[in-house]
Amino acid sequence: CGIVGYVGPNEDDRALSVVMEGLARLEYRGYDSAGVALLTGNRAEVRKRAGKLANLSAAIETDPMLGSSAGIGHTRWATHGGPTNENAHPHLGGTDGKLALIHNGIIENFHVLGNELRADGVRLTSETDTEVVAHLLARAYDGDLTAAMRQVVARLEGAFTLLAVHADQPGVVVGARRNSPLVVGLGDGENFLGSDVAAFIGYTRQAMELAQDQIVTITPREVTVTGFDGTPAQGKVFSVDWDAAAAEKGGYDTFMEKEINEQPRAVGETLLGRTDESGALVLDELRIPEEALRRVGRITIVACGTAAYAGMVAKYAIERWTRIPVEVALAHEFRYCDPIVDEQTLVVSISQSGETMDTLMAVKHARELGAQTIAICNTHGSTIPRESDAVLYTHAGPEVAVASTKAFLAQITACYVLGLYLAQLRGGSYADDAKAVMAELQEVPAKIEALLGSLDRVREIARFMADTRAVLFLGRQVGFPVAMEGALKLKELAYIHAEGFAAGELKHGPIALIEPGQPVFIVVPGPDTPHGLHGKVVSNIQEIRARGARTLVIAQEGDDAVVPFADEVIRVPRTSPMLQPLLTTVPLQVFALELSTAKGLDVDQPRNLAKSVTVE
Ligand code: G6P
Repeated sequence: CGIVGYVGPNEDDRALSVVMEGLARLEYRGYDSAGVALLTGNRAEVRKRAGKLANLSAAIETDPMLGSSAGIGHTRWATHGGPTNENAHPHLGGTDGKLALIHNGIIENFHVLGNELRADGVRLTSETDTEVVAHLLARAYDGDLTAAMRQVVARLEGAFTLLAVHADQPGVVVGARRNSPLVVGLGDGENFLGSDVAAFIGYTRQAMELAQDQIVTITPREVTVTGFDGTPAQGKVFSVDWDAAAAEKGGYDTFMEKEINEQPRAVGETLLGRTDESGALVLDELRIPEEALRRVGRITIVACGTAAYAGMVAKYAIERWTRIPVEVALAHEFRYCDPIVDEQTLVVSISQSGETMDTLMAVKHARELGAQTIAICNTHGSTIPRESDAVLYTHAGPEVAVASTKAFLAQITACYVLGLYLAQLRGGSYADDAKAVMAELQEVPAKIEALLGSLDRVREIARFMADTRAVLFLGRQVGFPVAMEGALKLKELAYIHAEGFAAGELKHGPIALIEPGQPVFIVVPGPDTPHGLHGKVVSNIQEIRARGARTLVIAQEGDDAVVPFADEVIRVPRTSPMLQPLLTTVPLQVFALELSTAKGLDVDQPRNLAKSVTVE
């Protein structure tokens, strides 16, 4: 879910427009329903609607809200209770209509708390855990919303961000967080709260991180942070290094199209400043002592979704360059499989948002077990970097489309950088090659740029395939995660059944799926890939072609061996085998985007998804 809070001067409809603009910028965090509460007169006025934010805007247009100095807003990804008007946030607490609350996360003991309230005669009107908290807060309120919040959070189990307003304190918004995101935006005579900085980027680039288990009270001129127990605390202030324009479509029809086209820059910026004049890698930001990194005996990568596929690419690269064994675990599986982790394990998390709850829990668990943790993350001020020993930021800029594109390439780039750095640090045969690989990486952005300009045929193929019911993707070695990502993009964007396979596995089962006309993308490794892998994949293409598959082959420029067996050849520029995912992924993204558009679907906000999933 996305949440916004605002407090400032009581000027016309500023509170409403700030909150609505914040919600629009946070809609990628959930779009099942949306709502706002403004303090007007002596009540909290609420409007909320099921469905996308546009429904809420329309409702406000028909039934306008008065000027106000404070407000909160919410855009929901449903957990408890379906996406109905009643279950939408904000929820009112008490019966006087003065207190409104929004919530992101899950309150695990809400049944117990709800029964307690019912036994006391409170009538609950929704199925949400949030309404229970709103009533608890109203009952605890005795003139000081912060004090009431302190009492209530002490009773809650689970993960949550809460924001509340009370009409008796019209210049105050109170927030609380445990394991769910919340950042403060620092304005001039006004202050903001948001799930991430996008909420207020149109108004200020000065922001403040909050730690876990903190309560924040904002007024137009003050921001006060305390622990759940009331101990005064200090938030860490930081500047956001992008502006509102970076989070707008900038002339493109969709964010996804814009973000695909921003990939040369995302890769380039992620490489920037990570080498010295001699070309050697410098990662001053990794606060883990070099000695500890030299001692690392194994690496476990934890991530979800697209980020996990970046992790799979990283496994091949880091193992090759450092000879350290690397395991890739889906974060939600890692946390609950009694993982083998000790002081010599380096746990690397990969997360665009830095808020994915599954990944956060995996990192916390790894730290408890004594591991060193590095976060590869795209979002400053987010939780996972805070909870890790060190962070390596990707510099993809804000990613708004729900399905990830540019962040994926930036994550792969950061993984290469980390692998090369470890190789350099630890010596060994690849240490000397690190500079050369970095130099080659520097050439990749221009190659992506060229590739992006050459994909008209891919778009054409996609448009012809709008009625396709299933697509298979094959790859080997680093091409395997690319195949998985190609399939995921197609599922997410076009709702088409798609599967990615390791091409070598095909003959052990999935080949039974091949029937005449079945489209299959094959990500072909460059001819110079070690162990004759190129030839093996060419054989795999022949095997499926012989059974009638329609072969859509992604191959390097100049690779003529694939031509006789390909129905279509999609060319990518040459680069060394390990770096190919930065190129071979791009046509698959464009394919999914175009197919989704051809089907008339919402590319940026596919059904049922949310960009940042902050529940387990
Ligand atoms: C959600 C998104 C995916 C994303 C995954 C991990 O499921 O819909 O696009 O890959 O979360 O997100 P993260 O922010 O941790 O990279």
